[in-house]
Amino acid sequence: MAGRHEGPRRRDVLVGAAGVGVGAAVVLAGGAAVRQQAGPEPFGAERTPGEDGHQPGLRTDPPAHAVHIAVDLDERVDRERIRSLLRILTDDASRLMAGYAPIGDQEPQMAEVPAGLAITIGFGRGLVRRVDEDGAPDWLAPLPAFSVDRLEERWSGGDLLLLVACDDPLTLAHAQRMLLKDVRAFGRIRWQQPGFRNARGSLAPGTTQRNLFGQIDGTANPLPGTEEFDELVWISEGPAWLLGGTSFVLRRIRMDLETWDEVDLPGREAAVGRRLDTGAPLTGAQERDEPDFEAVTAQGFTVINPVSHLRRARSEDPRERFHRVAYNYDHPVADAGGAGAEVSDSGLLFGAYQADPVAQFAPVQQRLAEADLLNEWTAPVGSAVFAIPPAAPPGGFVGEQLFAEG
Ligand code: HEM
Repeated sequence: MAGRHEGPRRRDVLVGAAGVGVGAAVVLAGGAAVRQQAGPEPFGAERTPGEDGHQPGLRTDPPAHAVHIAVDLDERVDRERIRSLLRILTDDASRLMAGYAPIGDQEPQMAEVPAGLAITIGFGRGLVRRVDEDGAPDWLAPLPAFSVDRLEERWSGGDLLLLVACDDPLTLAHAQRMLLKDVRAFGRIRWQQPGFRNARGSLAPGTTQRNLFGQIDGTANPLPGTEEFDELVWISEGPAWLLGGTSFVLRRIRMDLETWDEVDLPGREAAVGRRLDTGAPLTGAQERDEPDFEAVTAQGFTVINPVSHLRRARSEDPRERFHRVAYNYDHPVADAGGAGAEVSDSGLLFGAYQADPVAQFAPVQQRLAEADLLNEWTAPVGSAVFAIPPAAPPGGFVGEQLFAEG
Protein backbone atom coordinates (compact mmCIF):
# COMPACT_ATOMS: atom_id res chain seq x y z
CA MET A 1 0.00 0.00 0.00
CA ALA A 2 1.16 3.47 -0.72
CA GLY A 3 1.86 5.68 2.29
CA ARG A 4 -0.21 8.70 3.18
CA HIS A 5 1.75 11.13 1.02
CA GLU A 6 2.89 8.57 -1.49
CA GLY A 7 -0.26 8.58 -3.53
CA PRO A 8 -0.83 5.87 -6.10
CA ARG A 9 1.59 3.19 -7.20
CA ARG A 10 3.80 4.08 -10.13
CA ARG A 11 2.35 1.77 -12.72
CA ASP A 12 -1.28 2.69 -12.11
CA VAL A 13 -2.94 4.13 -15.16
CA LEU A 14 -5.47 6.29 -13.37
CA VAL A 15 -4.01 7.77 -10.26
CA GLY A 16 -5.43 10.02 -7.56
CA ALA A 17 -3.36 13.08 -6.88
CA ALA A 18 -2.22 12.77 -3.28
CA GLY A 19 -1.78 15.98 -1.42
CA VAL A 20 -3.16 18.32 -4.05
CA GLY A 21 -6.79 18.74 -3.18
CA VAL A 22 -9.98 16.77 -3.40
CA GLY A 23 -11.34 15.44 -6.64
CA ALA A 24 -8.29 16.05 -8.81
CA ALA A 25 -6.80 13.17 -10.74
CA VAL A 26 -4.04 12.55 -13.22
CA VAL A 27 -3.74 10.05 -16.01
CA LEU A 28 -0.41 8.80 -17.19
CA ALA A 29 -0.45 9.21 -20.94
CA GLY A 30 2.64 9.00 -23.08
CA GLY A 31 4.59 8.82 -19.87
CA ALA A 32 3.14 12.15 -18.91
CA ALA A 33 0.80 13.01 -16.09
CA VAL A 34 -2.24 14.83 -17.41
CA ARG A 35 -4.83 16.64 -15.33
CA GLN A 36 -8.18 14.85 -15.76
CA GLN A 37 -10.83 16.65 -13.83
CA ALA A 38 -11.76 20.23 -13.26
CA GLY A 39 -10.19 21.72 -10.17
CA PRO A 40 -8.08 24.71 -9.34
CA GLU A 41 -5.53 24.92 -12.15
CA PRO A 42 -2.03 25.18 -10.71
CA PHE A 43 -0.04 28.08 -12.12
CA GLY A 44 2.01 27.02 -15.10
CA ALA A 45 1.23 23.30 -15.25
CA GLU A 46 2.50 21.47 -18.33
CA ARG A 47 -0.92 20.07 -19.19
CA THR A 48 0.17 17.43 -21.63
CA PRO A 49 3.94 17.34 -21.81
CA GLY A 50 5.11 15.21 -24.68
CA GLU A 51 1.88 15.22 -26.65
CA ASP A 52 3.75 16.49 -29.71
CA GLY A 53 6.17 13.56 -29.51
CA HIS A 54 8.99 15.63 -28.02
CA GLN A 55 10.10 16.06 -24.43
CA PRO A 56 8.91 19.36 -23.01
CA GLY A 57 11.37 22.17 -22.48
CA LEU A 58 11.87 23.77 -25.86
CA ARG A 59 9.69 26.85 -25.98
CA THR A 60 9.87 30.33 -27.44
CA ASP A 61 9.97 31.74 -23.89
CA PRO A 62 12.31 29.63 -21.73
CA PRO A 63 11.56 29.65 -17.99
CA ALA A 64 13.45 32.21 -15.93
CA HIS A 65 15.55 29.68 -14.01
CA ALA A 66 17.24 26.45 -14.98
CA VAL A 67 19.53 23.99 -13.30
CA HIS A 68 21.60 21.79 -15.57
CA ILE A 69 22.65 18.63 -13.76
CA ALA A 70 24.97 15.89 -14.98
CA VAL A 71 25.11 12.56 -13.18
CA ASP A 72 27.75 9.86 -13.53
CA LEU A 73 26.34 6.37 -13.11
CA ASP A 74 27.98 4.03 -10.61
CA GLU A 75 29.95 1.23 -12.22
CA ARG A 76 27.57 -1.49 -11.10
CA VAL A 77 24.52 0.18 -12.68
CA ASP A 78 23.61 -2.06 -15.61
CA ARG A 79 21.01 -1.96 -18.34
CA GLU A 80 18.17 -3.17 -16.09
CA ARG A 81 18.95 -0.70 -13.36
CA ILE A 82 19.10 2.11 -15.91
CA ARG A 83 15.65 1.02 -17.05
CA SER A 84 14.36 1.29 -13.46
CA LEU A 85 15.98 4.69 -13.00
CA LEU A 86 14.48 6.09 -16.19
CA ARG A 87 11.06 4.74 -15.27
CA ILE A 88 11.22 6.48 -11.89
CA LEU A 89 12.57 9.73 -13.33
CA THR A 90 9.93 9.84 -16.07
CA ASP A 91 7.16 9.20 -13.60
CA ASP A 92 8.32 11.77 -11.08
CA ALA A 93 9.06 14.38 -13.74
CA SER A 94 5.59 13.91 -15.28
CA ARG A 95 3.86 14.36 -11.97
CA LEU A 96 5.91 17.40 -11.00
CA MET A 97 5.31 19.12 -14.34
CA ALA A 98 1.55 18.60 -13.95
CA GLY A 99 1.53 19.99 -10.42
CA TYR A 100 1.41 16.72 -8.49
CA ALA A 101 3.73 15.35 -5.85
CA PRO A 102 5.87 12.37 -6.82
CA ILE A 103 5.62 9.19 -4.82
CA GLY A 104 7.44 9.52 -1.52
CA ASP A 105 7.48 13.32 -1.63
CA GLN A 106 7.85 14.47 1.97
CA GLU A 107 6.82 18.03 1.10
CA PRO A 108 4.00 17.24 -1.36
CA GLN A 109 2.48 20.73 -1.18
CA MET A 110 5.60 22.12 -2.83
CA ALA A 111 4.59 20.50 -6.09
CA GLU A 112 1.32 22.42 -6.27
CA VAL A 113 2.64 25.43 -8.20
CA PRO A 114 4.57 24.03 -11.19
CA ALA A 115 5.21 27.54 -12.59
CA GLY A 116 6.16 26.33 -16.05
CA LEU A 117 8.34 23.53 -14.73
CA ALA A 118 9.91 21.66 -17.65
CA ILE A 119 12.15 18.67 -17.02
CA THR A 120 14.28 17.34 -19.87
CA ILE A 121 16.16 14.07 -19.59
CA GLY A 122 19.28 13.51 -21.71
CA PHE A 123 21.79 10.71 -22.18
CA GLY A 124 25.57 10.90 -22.42
CA ARG A 125 27.51 8.35 -24.42
CA GLY A 126 28.33 6.31 -21.31
CA LEU A 127 24.69 5.66 -20.47
CA VAL A 128 23.68 4.76 -24.02
CA ARG A 129 26.53 2.25 -24.39
CA ARG A 130 25.61 0.51 -21.16
CA VAL A 131 22.12 -0.07 -22.53
CA ASP A 132 23.12 -0.86 -26.09
CA GLU A 133 26.79 -1.15 -27.04
CA ASP A 134 26.09 0.06 -30.60
CA GLY A 135 23.25 2.45 -29.78
CA ALA A 136 25.15 5.74 -29.65
CA PRO A 137 25.27 7.92 -32.75
CA ASP A 138 28.78 9.07 -33.71
CA TRP A 139 28.09 12.62 -32.61
CA LEU A 140 27.37 11.55 -29.04
CA ALA A 141 30.92 12.20 -27.85
CA PRO A 142 32.98 15.15 -26.61
CA LEU A 143 33.20 17.89 -29.25
CA PRO A 144 36.52 18.30 -31.03
CA ALA A 145 38.97 20.53 -29.15
CA PHE A 146 38.85 24.24 -30.08
CA SER A 147 41.77 26.63 -29.66
CA VAL A 148 39.72 28.89 -27.35
CA ASP A 149 38.82 26.05 -24.96
CA ARG A 150 39.90 26.32 -21.35
CA LEU A 151 37.82 23.32 -20.34
CA GLU A 152 37.68 22.05 -16.80
CA GLU A 153 36.68 18.49 -15.96
CA ARG A 154 34.35 19.72 -13.23
CA TRP A 155 32.08 21.39 -15.82
CA SER A 156 32.33 18.80 -18.60
CA GLY A 157 30.95 15.41 -19.64
CA GLY A 158 28.42 13.27 -17.77
CA ASP A 159 26.33 10.11 -18.27
CA LEU A 160 22.86 11.54 -17.61
CA LEU A 161 21.49 15.06 -17.98
CA LEU A 162 18.62 16.45 -15.95
CA LEU A 163 17.65 19.89 -17.17
CA VAL A 164 15.16 21.37 -14.75
CA ALA A 165 13.72 24.72 -15.82
CA CYS A 166 11.07 26.70 -14.00
CA ASP A 167 9.77 30.23 -13.48
CA ASP A 168 9.78 29.82 -9.71
CA PRO A 169 13.07 29.10 -7.95
CA LEU A 170 11.34 27.49 -4.96
CA THR A 171 9.43 25.02 -7.11
CA LEU A 172 12.62 24.36 -9.01
CA ALA A 173 14.56 23.61 -5.83
CA HIS A 174 11.92 21.11 -4.76
CA ALA A 175 11.76 19.40 -8.16
CA GLN A 176 15.53 19.24 -8.32
CA ARG A 177 15.71 17.64 -4.89
CA MET A 178 13.07 15.04 -5.79
CA LEU A 179 15.00 14.03 -8.92
CA LEU A 180 18.35 13.96 -7.14
CA LYS A 181 16.87 11.71 -4.45
CA ASP A 182 15.86 9.40 -7.30
CA VAL A 183 19.33 9.23 -8.79
CA ARG A 184 21.51 9.02 -5.69
CA ALA A 185 21.25 5.23 -5.45
CA PHE A 186 22.40 4.96 -9.07
CA GLY A 187 25.23 7.45 -9.35
CA ARG A 188 26.77 10.71 -8.26
CA ILE A 189 26.33 14.30 -9.26
CA ARG A 190 29.11 15.30 -11.62
CA TRP A 191 28.14 18.95 -11.95
CA GLN A 192 25.21 21.18 -11.22
CA GLN A 193 24.98 24.49 -13.07
CA PRO A 194 22.22 26.94 -12.19
CA GLY A 195 21.38 29.83 -14.49
CA PHE A 196 18.85 32.62 -14.79
CA ARG A 197 17.13 34.87 -17.28
CA ASN A 198 14.79 37.83 -16.75
CA ALA A 199 11.88 37.08 -14.40
CA ARG A 200 8.66 36.03 -16.12
CA GLY A 201 6.53 39.12 -16.71
CA SER A 202 9.34 41.65 -16.42
CA LEU A 203 9.62 42.05 -20.20
CA ALA A 204 6.89 42.16 -22.83
CA PRO A 205 6.37 38.72 -24.42
CA GLY A 206 8.68 38.18 -27.39
CA THR A 207 11.34 40.61 -26.13
CA THR A 208 14.89 39.34 -26.65
CA GLN A 209 16.73 39.28 -23.34
CA ARG A 210 20.12 40.73 -22.47
CA ASN A 211 23.14 38.84 -21.20
CA LEU A 212 25.56 40.07 -18.51
CA PHE A 213 27.59 42.05 -21.08
CA GLY A 214 24.37 44.04 -21.58
CA GLN A 215 23.96 42.71 -25.13
CA ILE A 216 20.62 41.74 -26.60
CA ASP A 217 21.30 38.05 -27.07
CA GLY A 218 19.12 35.62 -29.00
CA THR A 219 17.90 37.73 -31.94
CA ALA A 220 18.84 35.43 -34.83
CA ASN A 221 17.55 32.15 -33.46
CA PRO A 222 15.30 29.58 -35.17
CA LEU A 223 12.26 29.40 -32.89
CA PRO A 224 10.05 26.46 -31.87
CA GLY A 225 6.91 26.20 -33.93
CA THR A 226 8.63 27.14 -37.20
CA GLU A 227 9.49 24.85 -40.09
CA GLU A 228 13.09 26.01 -39.91
CA PHE A 229 13.28 24.92 -36.26
CA ASP A 230 11.71 21.53 -36.98
CA GLU A 231 14.26 20.86 -39.71
CA LEU A 232 17.27 22.00 -37.74
CA VAL A 233 16.43 20.62 -34.33
CA TRP A 234 14.48 17.35 -34.46
CA ILE A 235 16.32 14.19 -35.41
CA SER A 236 14.89 12.55 -38.53
CA GLU A 237 17.64 10.06 -39.40
CA GLY A 238 20.08 7.80 -37.57
CA PRO A 239 19.31 5.42 -34.67
CA ALA A 240 15.56 4.71 -34.47
CA TRP A 241 15.41 5.36 -30.71
CA LEU A 242 16.32 9.01 -31.27
CA LEU A 243 13.84 9.87 -34.04
CA GLY A 244 11.86 12.89 -32.87
CA GLY A 245 14.53 13.66 -30.29
CA THR A 246 17.40 16.12 -30.50
CA SER A 247 20.86 16.78 -29.15
CA PHE A 248 21.93 19.26 -26.51
CA VAL A 249 25.32 20.90 -26.27
CA LEU A 250 26.09 22.79 -23.10
CA ARG A 251 29.06 25.13 -23.14
CA ARG A 252 29.89 26.96 -19.95
CA ILE A 253 31.43 30.20 -21.18
CA ARG A 254 33.15 32.50 -18.75
CA MET A 255 32.64 36.21 -19.45
CA ASP A 256 35.28 38.57 -18.11
CA LEU A 257 33.24 41.49 -16.86
CA GLU A 258 36.28 43.25 -15.42
CA THR A 259 38.03 43.68 -18.78
CA TRP A 260 34.71 44.23 -20.62
CA ASP A 261 34.27 47.24 -18.31
CA GLU A 262 37.35 48.78 -19.89
CA VAL A 263 35.85 48.82 -23.39
CA ASP A 264 34.01 51.91 -24.68
CA LEU A 265 30.70 51.76 -26.52
CA PRO A 266 32.10 51.77 -30.09
CA GLY A 267 34.48 48.96 -29.13
CA ARG A 268 31.67 46.93 -27.60
CA GLU A 269 29.43 47.41 -30.63
CA ALA A 270 32.21 46.58 -33.07
CA ALA A 271 32.91 43.32 -31.20
CA VAL A 272 29.43 41.97 -31.75
CA GLY A 273 28.43 43.91 -34.93
CA ARG A 274 25.22 45.14 -33.32
CA ARG A 275 24.15 48.22 -31.37
CA LEU A 276 24.07 47.81 -27.62
CA ASP A 277 20.86 49.80 -27.07
CA THR A 278 18.52 48.31 -29.70
CA GLY A 279 20.41 45.19 -30.78
CA ALA A 280 20.11 46.40 -34.41
CA PRO A 281 22.95 45.39 -36.74
CA LEU A 282 25.38 48.30 -37.21
CA THR A 283 24.01 48.67 -40.75
CA GLY A 284 20.34 48.80 -39.64
CA ALA A 285 17.84 50.57 -37.42
CA GLN A 286 15.76 47.76 -35.89
CA GLU A 287 16.81 44.66 -33.99
CA ARG A 288 15.52 42.33 -36.69
CA ASP A 289 16.91 44.20 -39.70
CA GLU A 290 19.09 42.00 -41.87
CA PRO A 291 22.78 42.90 -41.49
CA ASP A 292 24.51 44.22 -44.62
CA PHE A 293 27.99 42.75 -44.53
CA GLU A 294 29.01 44.61 -47.71
CA ALA A 295 28.20 48.14 -46.46
CA VAL A 296 31.31 50.32 -46.09
CA THR A 297 32.11 53.52 -44.23
CA ALA A 298 33.27 56.74 -45.94
CA GLN A 299 36.82 55.53 -45.23
CA GLY A 300 36.16 52.26 -47.05
CA PHE A 301 36.01 49.92 -44.04
CA THR A 302 33.13 47.47 -43.72
CA VAL A 303 30.57 48.81 -41.22
CA ILE A 304 30.24 45.38 -39.65
CA ASN A 305 33.70 44.16 -38.76
CA PRO A 306 34.50 40.90 -40.62
CA VAL A 307 35.71 39.40 -37.35
CA SER A 308 32.75 40.61 -35.28
CA HIS A 309 30.78 37.91 -33.48
CA LEU A 310 27.77 38.48 -35.73
CA ARG A 311 29.75 38.07 -38.95
CA ARG A 312 31.69 35.03 -37.76
CA ALA A 313 28.75 33.24 -36.14
CA ARG A 314 26.64 33.46 -39.32
CA SER A 315 27.57 30.62 -41.62
CA GLU A 316 27.00 30.66 -45.38
CA ASP A 317 25.79 27.08 -45.01
CA PRO A 318 22.12 27.08 -43.95
CA ARG A 319 22.63 23.70 -42.31
CA GLU A 320 25.14 25.15 -39.84
CA ARG A 321 22.49 26.61 -37.57
CA PHE A 322 20.89 25.56 -34.28
CA HIS A 323 18.56 26.77 -31.55
CA ARG A 324 20.28 28.66 -28.73
CA VAL A 325 18.98 28.85 -25.17
CA ALA A 326 21.36 30.73 -22.93
CA TYR A 327 21.11 31.14 -19.18
CA ASN A 328 23.30 33.59 -17.28
CA TYR A 329 25.38 32.55 -14.33
CA ASP A 330 26.75 34.89 -11.68
CA HIS A 331 28.35 33.25 -8.69
CA PRO A 332 29.54 34.89 -5.50
CA VAL A 333 33.22 35.69 -5.28
CA ALA A 334 34.57 35.39 -1.76
CA ASP A 335 37.26 37.62 -0.38
CA ALA A 336 37.62 39.95 -3.38
CA GLY A 337 38.68 43.53 -2.71
CA GLY A 338 40.98 46.33 -3.83
CA ALA A 339 41.02 48.37 -7.02
CA GLY A 340 40.66 46.17 -10.11
CA ALA A 341 39.85 43.02 -8.12
CA GLU A 342 37.70 40.44 -9.84
CA VAL A 343 34.33 40.79 -8.18
CA SER A 344 32.37 38.63 -10.64
CA ASP A 345 32.40 34.99 -11.61
CA SER A 346 29.97 35.28 -14.49
CA GLY A 347 29.14 33.94 -17.87
CA LEU A 348 26.70 32.03 -20.01
CA LEU A 349 25.39 28.51 -19.80
CA PHE A 350 25.21 28.39 -23.57
CA GLY A 351 22.80 25.65 -24.62
CA ALA A 352 22.47 24.62 -28.26
CA TYR A 353 19.87 22.23 -29.66
CA GLN A 354 20.34 20.65 -33.08
CA ALA A 355 19.80 17.35 -34.87
CA ASP A 356 23.56 16.78 -35.22
CA PRO A 357 26.07 18.78 -33.17
CA VAL A 358 29.07 17.71 -35.25
CA ALA A 359 27.47 18.90 -38.49
CA GLN A 360 25.72 21.98 -37.12
CA PHE A 361 27.31 23.32 -33.93
CA ALA A 362 30.98 22.35 -34.26
CA PRO A 363 31.68 24.22 -37.54
CA VAL A 364 30.30 27.45 -36.07
CA GLN A 365 32.30 27.03 -32.87
CA GLN A 366 35.36 26.34 -35.03
CA ARG A 367 34.85 29.56 -37.01
CA LEU A 368 34.47 31.53 -33.78
CA ALA A 369 37.58 29.90 -32.33
CA GLU A 370 39.55 30.97 -35.43
CA ALA A 371 38.43 34.58 -35.24
CA ASP A 372 35.84 36.43 -33.19
CA LEU A 373 36.45 39.76 -31.44
CA LEU A 374 34.35 38.56 -28.50
CA ASN A 375 37.00 35.92 -27.69
CA GLU A 376 38.96 38.66 -25.97
CA TRP A 377 36.45 38.57 -23.10
CA THR A 378 35.07 35.02 -23.20
CA ALA A 379 36.39 31.50 -22.65
CA PRO A 380 34.60 28.14 -22.75
CA VAL A 381 35.36 26.40 -19.44
CA GLY A 382 32.90 23.52 -19.67
CA SER A 383 31.51 21.36 -22.47
CA ALA A 384 29.09 18.44 -22.66
CA VAL A 385 27.00 16.71 -25.33
CA PHE A 386 23.79 14.78 -24.66
CA ALA A 387 21.21 12.94 -26.72
CA ILE A 388 17.67 14.06 -25.86
CA PRO A 389 15.31 11.17 -26.64
CA PRO A 390 11.78 11.90 -27.87
CA ALA A 391 8.86 11.93 -25.42
CA ALA A 392 8.18 8.68 -23.58
CA PRO A 393 5.95 6.27 -25.52
CA PRO A 394 2.39 5.88 -24.11
CA GLY A 395 2.61 4.46 -20.60
CA GLY A 396 6.37 4.18 -20.93
CA PHE A 397 9.49 6.07 -19.99
CA VAL A 398 11.94 8.44 -21.64
CA GLY A 399 14.50 6.45 -23.62
CA GLU A 400 12.42 3.25 -23.68
CA GLN A 401 12.95 2.96 -27.44
CA LEU A 402 16.68 2.45 -26.82
CA PHE A 403 15.95 -0.71 -24.84
CA ALA A 404 13.92 -2.11 -27.71
CA GLU A 405 17.03 -2.09 -29.87
CA GLY A 406 19.63 -3.68 -27.64
C1 HEM B 1 29.76 34.27 -23.83
C2 HEM B 1 29.71 33.92 -25.09
C3 HEM B 1 28.78 34.55 -26.10
C4 HEM B 1 28.16 35.74 -26.09
C5 HEM B 1 28.22 36.81 -25.02
C6 HEM B 1 27.37 35.82 -27.31
C7 HEM B 1 26.60 36.91 -27.66
C8 HEM B 1 25.92 37.01 -28.86
C9 HEM B 1 25.19 38.17 -29.29
C10 HEM B 1 25.05 39.45 -28.51
C11 HEM B 1 24.67 37.91 -30.51
C12 HEM B 1 23.87 38.86 -31.41
C13 HEM B 1 22.40 38.77 -31.20
C14 HEM B 1 21.80 37.46 -31.57
O1 HEM B 1 21.53 37.17 -32.75
O2 HEM B 1 21.63 36.67 -30.66
C15 HEM B 1 25.04 36.56 -30.84
C16 HEM B 1 24.70 35.90 -32.00
C17 HEM B 1 25.02 34.61 -32.28
N1 HEM B 1 25.86 33.80 -31.57
FE1 HEM B 1 26.76 34.27 -29.82
N2 HEM B 1 27.55 34.68 -28.02
C18 HEM B 1 28.41 33.88 -27.32
C19 HEM B 1 28.85 32.63 -27.70
C20 HEM B 1 28.47 31.96 -28.81
C21 HEM B 1 28.88 30.62 -29.18
C22 HEM B 1 29.83 29.74 -28.36
C23 HEM B 1 28.26 30.31 -30.33
C24 HEM B 1 28.34 29.05 -31.15
C25 HEM B 1 29.30 28.20 -31.15
C26 HEM B 1 27.46 31.45 -30.71
C27 HEM B 1 26.66 31.50 -31.82
C28 HEM B 1 25.92 32.58 -32.18
C29 HEM B 1 25.08 32.60 -33.36
C30 HEM B 1 24.85 31.45 -34.32
C31 HEM B 1 24.53 33.89 -33.43
C32 HEM B 1 23.59 34.41 -34.52
C33 HEM B 1 24.40 34.87 -35.68
C34 HEM B 1 23.49 35.36 -36.80
O3 HEM B 1 23.08 36.51 -36.77
O4 HEM B 1 23.23 34.57 -37.70
N3 HEM B 1 27.61 32.42 -29.78
N4 HEM B 1 25.81 36.03 -29.83
